[in-house]
Amino acid sequence: MTIVVTRRHVIATIASSSVVLCPAVLNAQTVPEPDWGEVPYDKPLGETQLVEVAAGPAEVDVSALQAGEVAVIARPTDDEEYAATGMIQYIAVLRRTDDQIAFGAENDREGTVQDPRFFVVNLLCSHRGKAIGITGNPDAPFACTDRRGRHGSIYNSVGFGIAGASEDEFLSIPDYTLTANGDQVTVAIA
Ligand code: FES
Repeated sequence: MTIVVTRRHVIATIASSSVVLCPAVLNAQTVPEPDWGEVPYDKPLGETQLVEVAAGPAEVDVSALQAGEVAVIARPTDDEEYAATGMIQYIAVLRRTDDQIAFGAENDREGTVQDPRFFVVNLLCSHRGKAIGITGNPDAPFACTDRRGRHGSIYNSVGFGIAGASEDEFLSIPDYTLTANGDQVTVAIA
């Protein structure tokens, strides 16, 4: 069964006053702040918009995403790698803006992107496996939810660490297949 992403699942990443995310995160942007207030430490930001699927292979229709928007898929797993995220694998599907597509053309790791318009990535910090949040900043869309002490990793739109403990490291890429048929785009995760 294909799960269809609707507008209620969408997390907008283009910073604007209408973005429904924690203001502390939007303000933080690319600067790791020691105190981000009420922002959760263990779950992706925007978790109320999660696209929840059952354990095992899943297919998600992401056609509703507009450029600059993200859908976050949440899937239970028994893989201990996800212990710090409550045994949930969080996967982001970012529909890139034109600027992000151009940046990806220069910076994507070979073999990690199947369609330049979409970036599919595990929201699992490469430092100690905490959940990664969606920041609202198109230049640095992903940030670790753990911002204490020597954590605070921030990643750019190709999933490369640009600050914090994971600087110069990449987020991992899930095993997925993206299929585009006209306006219909589906992501199948193995
Ligand atoms: S676990 Fe993400 S920065 Fe440490």
